[in-house]
Amino acid sequence: TASREGPVCVLTLDRPEKLNALSTAVEQALGGALASDAVRESRCVVLTGAGRAFSAGADLAEISRDDPAGIAAYYREAGDVYERLAALPQPTIAALHGYCLGGGFELALAADFRVADETAVFGLPEVALGIVPSSGGLHRLVRVVGPARAKEAMLLRERLDAGEAHALGLVTEVAAEGAALSRALELAERLASLPPLAVSVAKQAADLLAESSREAGVAIERLAYGMLAQTEEARAAAEDFGRRKG
Ligand code: COA
Repeated sequence: TASREGPVCVLTLDRPEKLNALSTAVEQALGGALASDAVRESRCVVLTGAGRAFSAGADLAEISRDDPAGIAAYYREAGDVYERLAALPQPTIAALHGYCLGGGFELALAADFRVADETAVFGLPEVALGIVPSSGGLHRLVRVVGPARAKEAMLLRERLDAGEAHALGLVTEVAAEGAALSRALELAERLASLPPLAVSVAKQAADLLAESSREAGVAIERLAYGMLAQTEEARAAAEDFGRRKG
């Protein structure tokens, strides 16, 4: 479900009786929410889970034993929601508590920031189930912590607590029990108060720079600057600085 709090849109995974397991229906609902006016018109999106967990991951009752064409169709449709979250132009924050496993962990990794309360527990059970994380999360995990630590998290560590996830850089901040959403909303207010185009360009540039050569990266920075320097906010900030200098 999507709800607006001023410039911030809160999306809630709302299947608490199954620890917000990510069934195709849940993924489709999230996809619908991402395409809604509430999200489109917001300056920041916060993702949270109802009940005692953020998400216990892919719906094990549904895990696809489909043929290859069926699996490809899944990634084109419901399974593309992780990429669509990552591709939103405005910043996104995952507010995490309780279990954050498998696809739930991958969904959190598709957000720009992660605020976890002290009860948050991370894990990637896929390999023990004979599969691998495949909703973009393994790629993102490697980007954040490097291949050695990604392999450690995936193959050697059944669970990571919030403090361990923070030490690895997977979590932006650890909040007191029950305070992840309120802290995420505070960060969201800060993000929403910054010039929106600059925030959006900075976010997209950072994501692109992580995938670019130095030369392409420098070009992206210059193009981003060229796009922003003439905006009303940039001009006003420069004039304001000049005025204060006298
Ligand atoms: N898919 C489908 N249903 C799930 C689920 C999942 N990934 N995770 C939890 N549920 C359901 C349980 O079946 C249970 O439903 P029920 O009450 O109808 O029986 C309900 O959510 C509550 O879970 P329960 O197992 O009773 O809670 P718990 O606190 O004892 O254990 C977990 C929590 C997360 C340790 C345990 O549910 C679990 O191991 N889930 C699977 C996690 C997983 O492997 N996810 C990754 C898939 S790639």
